[in-house]
Amino acid sequence: MNIVLIGFRGTGKSTVGKLLAQRLERDFIDSDKCIESSTGKTIKSIFEEVGEKGFRKIEADIITELSKMDNTVISAGGGVVLKEENVRILKNNGFLVLLEATPKIIHNRITQDEKTTQQRPSLTDKTPLDEIKHLITKREHAYKNAADYTINTSYVSCEDIVKEIITTANKSVNN
Ligand code: S3P
Repeated sequence: MNIVLIGFRGTGKSTVGKLLAQRLERDFIDSDKCIESSTGKTIKSIFEEVGEKGFRKIEADIITELSKMDNTVISAGGGVVLKEENVRILKNNGFLVLLEATPKIIHNRITQDEKTTQQRPSLTDKTPLDEIKHLITKREHAYKNAADYTINTSYVSCEDIVKEIITTANKSVNN
């Protein structure tokens, strides 16, 4: 069974995912990184060439491949939950953990994160903080619907989040 981290940009999926994989001695896979290595392009340039719609198609193909893995920690790009089919196939063999954070904290994290320039093109014509607030509200239903478990990462250490995920995932496997 995979552990799949879902949630908006900047909620900690990559940082938590890497530590979680280390603790569980599993492989860690980031869907955005897979898209970049399979296309040889950055996420930003894919958006420039084929737009968000084209990007979502490539993303869905990658999710199909990743959902065939087992015992892996997967960090899913923030928009993966927008396609029901992505969620359905990830759930076949995955425990989906939703990471959340306040818009202000997300804003701080993504403006400081070097991968933002290449991996996080603007998705609206709003200012960055307004875009975060707008998209979190718009996607709330999809995130909640997809999640088997939710953790707010705003004020919790990465170590504690990882412990909580391990405890919960173990319970779900044993039930
Ligand atoms: C997106 C989030 C990004 C990346 C792309 C689109 C989104 O992934 O897939 O820029 O729609 O929220 P991260 O959540 O890993 O930053």
